[in-house]
Amino acid sequence: MGLVLGIETACDDTAAAVVDADFNVRSSVVWGQKQTHEAFNGVVPELAARRHAEVIMKVVEQALDEAGVGLSDISAVACNNQHGLIRSVVVGVSTARGLAVSQGLPLIPVHHVEAHIFSAIMTNPDLFNEHICLAVAGGHNALIHVHGMGDYEVIGRTLDDSAGEAFDKVGSYLGLPFPAGAQVDALARRGNPRAYAFPRPKLKDGTLNFSFSGLKTPVRMVAEKLQSQGGAPDVAASFERAVVDVLVAKTLAAAEQRGVTRVSVAGGVACNTLLREELPREAAQRGIAVTLTPPKLCTDNAAMVAGLAQYKLREGAQSTLDLDATPNAPLGRRGANYRPNQAG
Ligand code: KG4
Ligand code: ZN
Repeated sequence: MGLVLGIETACDDTAAAVVDADFNVRSSVVWGQKQTHEAFNGVVPELAARRHAEVIMKVVEQALDEAGVGLSDISAVACNNQHGLIRSVVVGVSTARGLAVSQGLPLIPVHHVEAHIFSAIMTNPDLFNEHICLAVAGGHNALIHVHGMGDYEVIGRTLDDSAGEAFDKVGSYLGLPFPAGAQVDALARRGNPRAYAFPRPKLKDGTLNFSFSGLKTPVRMVAEKLQSQGGAPDVAASFERAVVDVLVAKTLAAAEQRGVTRVSVAGGVACNTLLREELPREAAQRGIAVTLTPPKLCTDNAAMVAGLAQYKLREGAQSTLDLDATPNAPLGRRGANYRPNQAG
C-alpha cells in the first residue's frame, strides 16, 4: 500500500496529512480556529463547521504540497467519521468521500479516539501489544486497556469535565485566551506548585474514574482574589500539579490493576510539561515503561488518522464509500461499550 491521505475535522482543527506504509509522516497540516472561537471562550459548533468548509480544500492541497505529491500519488483516503461535533465531522466526511469517489480511491473510516491511541502506537511498535492508554484532551478523557489493535476496554473515564476543559476554564479565570492549556502550562513553569492546596478529586476513591469539575471553583475563588497577574503562575502551577497528580496516579493504578507494564499517553493534554516529566518518573519506580506521544501528534491532527488507516488497510480493511458521520460512535471491545462523548 502506498500513501494515505488523512482528513480530520472533529472539533476546531482542520487537518490533513500524508502518511506512508511504514507510518512515516510525510506531511501534517493543522489549521486551528483560535481566532474564530476566542471571543466565545469555547468552540461554537456552527462557526467551527463553516470554518472547516472554508479551508478544508486548502489544507488538503497544502498537505499534498508539503509531502511533495499530487492526488494521483495517493492510494487511499481516510477520515474520522466517528467522534466530534456532528457538523464539523460531516465536512471532513464529505470532503474525503468526494476525493475518494473522484479519484477512484478506497475510503477508510476511522474513530478519532482510536486514532489518538494509534498516535502513540505509530511512534513505538511495542504498543501493538497490550498496554494502557491515557487519552486525555478537551473532548475526551479516558483510561483505555488496549488488549490489542481493535480491542479496547475503557476502564476509567471522566464523570464530568475532561482535564483539557479544566485547563481551558482555569486559563479563562487567569485571563488567558481559549484554548488555554498550553499557556497555563507555560505560566506554571514560573510558579510554585505548593502555593495552594487544591483538591485532588477522586484520587483515593479506589476507581479509575476522573472528575475535574470540582477543581474549578476553588481555583476560580483564588484567581478572583489575586490582586495582580503577579500571582497567576502560582495558581497555574498548583492547579496543574493537582491535575497531574490525579492523572499519573490513576494511570499507574490502571497498569498495576491490569498487570500491564506499558502505558502511553495521547491527546492534547499529553503535551503538558509536568505530565511528561512526572508520568515516566513515577512509572520507572514501578517498572512500567511509558511512551509519550510526540506533541505534534498529541493535539488533534490527521497524521494519526492516516496512520491508523494504513494499519487497517494492511489488515484488509475494505473501502466504505457510503459511510455516514456517526460522531458518538462507541469505542469498545469489538462489542462496543463506550461513547467518548458521554461524560458519565
Ligand atoms: O486533542 P485536542 O487537540 O482536542 C480534543 O480532542 O479535545 O486537545 C485539546 C486540549 C485543550 O483543552 C487544550 O487546552 C489542551 O488540550 N492542551 C493542554 C496543553 N496543550 C493543549 N493542556 C495542558 N497542557 C498543555 N501543554
Ligand atoms: Zn482529540
